Amino acid sequence: MNTMRNAAAPSRISAGLLGMTRHVAAVARPGAATSPRKLHTGATTDVAGTATSTAPATKFDIGGGVELPVPSDVAPLFQPYSLSGGRFQLSNRIVYAPLTRMRAVGTIPQPSAAVYYSQRAVPGGLIISEATNIAPEGLGYMNTPGLWLPEQLEGWKPVVRAVKDKGAVFFCQLWHCGRASHPDLQPNGAAPISSSNRPITSPEYQVYTPSGPKSYTAPRPATREEIKRVVGEYARAAKNAIEVAGFDGVEIHGANGYFIDQFIKDSVNDRTDEYGGSIENRCRFALEVVEAVVNAVGADRVGIRISPFTTFLDALDSTPYATHVYLVEKLNAYGLSYVHMVEPRVLGVIDLDSSPDSLAPFRRVYKGTFITAGGFKAENGAEALADGEADLVAYGRWYLANPDLHKRFLLHAPLNKYDRDTFYSPGMEGYLDYPTLEEVQAREAQ
Ligand SMILES: Cc1cc2nc3c(=O)[nH]c(=O)nc-3n(C[C@H](O)[C@H](O)[C@H](O)COP(=O)(O)O)c2cc1C
Repeated sequence: MNTMRNAAAPSRISAGLLGMTRHVAAVARPGAATSPRKLHTGATTDVAGTATSTAPATKFDIGGGVELPVPSDVAPLFQPYSLSGGRFQLSNRIVYAPLTRMRAVGTIPQPSAAVYYSQRAVPGGLIISEATNIAPEGLGYMNTPGLWLPEQLEGWKPVVRAVKDKGAVFFCQLWHCGRASHPDLQPNGAAPISSSNRPITSPEYQVYTPSGPKSYTAPRPATREEIKRVVGEYARAAKNAIEVAGFDGVEIHGANGYFIDQFIKDSVNDRTDEYGGSIENRCRFALEVVEAVVNAVGADRVGIRISPFTTFLDALDSTPYATHVYLVEKLNAYGLSYVHMVEPRVLGVIDLDSSPDSLAPFRRVYKGTFITAGGFKAENGAEALADGEADLVAYGRWYLANPDLHKRFLLHAPLNKYDRDTFYSPGMEGYLDYPTLEEVQAREAQ
């Protein structure tokens, strides 16, 4: 795979590949949710009932022996949080969202990733890694890391160490792309597997292969034996991530139109066996993966990400509330580290300014730690926490572009703008070179 980067990785990949490209006005969906219940602002106890701090934090340690005062308007973001029943003591509620950056060489994480992640690590912070392939068949994007080869795990070790040296907690996101792949990326040039043979057809989605961008092709429905094997691959990847690479935990990627979501959502899944049809059947695969991963590494090291409303990669559900309330209710049984959900304003290749939909019904049903993601800055993130919409808030693009995001929020400093053109481009531009606040100020002073 080493040659793939040079041979094929485009220098400027469409920003819509994994992220979002533009904002549009809100669209109405019948049966939208009611607003969430209001909760604490002083952060003494969260919905999950996990004891947190007894008093609002007045100072925050951003690392390197520097403490900054916490302004009251952002205080909810800087409350400590006890994750996984106390296994992980977080110093704050800001999470680094999983972000694919395509800077691996083939599937091997590089030393640059250690610099990249540690730039964004604060003591007691929570970082979720870029989506990481669990097996060769799961690969859908070139230059994304893996978790099945010794070389991949050796590549991860210094990355994990760098993050932990900064005192942060590091979870690895487990990824299988399913139909969001191409025979050119598959072992033996086979068709990728999915829940069905329905391909991704929207023209805005293209797959990058060693010979350039191509349209997606039809997948083949996974057999029962293959489903069982992939469940085992998730468990093996989780063990490798934690026991070999040294990650603190894993996040199962059940969102954004990838393999697990291809089972959950009925625009993709047309199976007639026990993995298709009813909501219960469509959620079966996700729950089997959760169970296997929990059995492999323990529930307090396992989170899951799901996205009821995302239309990314043509994966839509006709009853997103019913489907995902069922799923989240079932997840209560496992005592997971957390459930991480993507806000409805984040759709596919677009972001809405606002949405009539809401994660509130899922928040109400889920009894454990709830992370929300999508479209947050300091103010609305603090509000979401103060209003009890979530326990933790994940930040993607703004954190990507602002390695010192905590500091900027604490100082109400302007944010670096993110550069979509370098989200997935090869090289260090837009990866390691987003300036710190001091660097920005020094440049402005010149
Ligand atoms: C460059 C980029 C890469 C992404 N990669 C992943 C990924 O690997 N796994 C995932 O679950 N979501 C991924 N996402 C989605 C983000 O985690 C997040 O949900 C999204 O950016 C919305 O949050 P934001 O508004 O804070 O950026 C990606 C988004 C972007 C922009």
